[in-house]
Amino acid sequence: MDSSFRRSGASGLSFTTVGLLALFTPGAWQSAHAQAADGERLFRQRCASCHSIDTRGRGTGPSLAGVFGREAGSLTGARYSQAMQEARLVWDEETLDSFLGDPRRTVPGTTMAVRVTDQAQRAAIIAFLRENSDGE
Ligand code: HEC
Repeated sequence: MDSSFRRSGASGLSFTTVGLLALFTPGAWQSAHAQAADGERLFRQRCASCHSIDTRGRGTGPSLAGVFGREAGSLTGARYSQAMQEARLVWDEETLDSFLGDPRRTVPGTTMAVRVTDQAQRAAIIAFLRENSDGE
């Protein structure tokens, strides 16, 4: 008799409903902190092979320590493309979102090719960077 219940799909439906309720309950699940934790995992998977968030890190890409409020291509000692040095962008939520979504459209000629096409993943990574890249 249990199996007929499972086949009915009723349990799946109730899980979806619970999930939606959690999504729309302000501040309950997707607090900035939870988002940043997710962002840390994504950062390790997608970014950390080339970028560190501290100033000691040496990678293919520039350190992202202090990236918020920094002018694009301006970190002393980092290797940048000419395009990045001339980009005239300041990194904030908006410019990071655009760059991570499509680096080559935001900074034509950049050598960074990694794209994060999922908007929620970009938001999580950016929240993580904002909380953890200020050297505090
Ligand atoms: C395969 C290596 C690689 C990966 C992976 C990578 N990047 Fe980059 N990133 C670079 C390089 C190289 C540059 C410099 C690009 C240039 O000068 O055109 C760069 C530049 C940047 C910049 C501009 C920094 C500055 O000082 O102006 C930001 C911001 C950035 N990356 C964020 C990220 C994030 C967030 C991720 C993960 C989603 C990521 N990158 C993944 C190689 C990488």
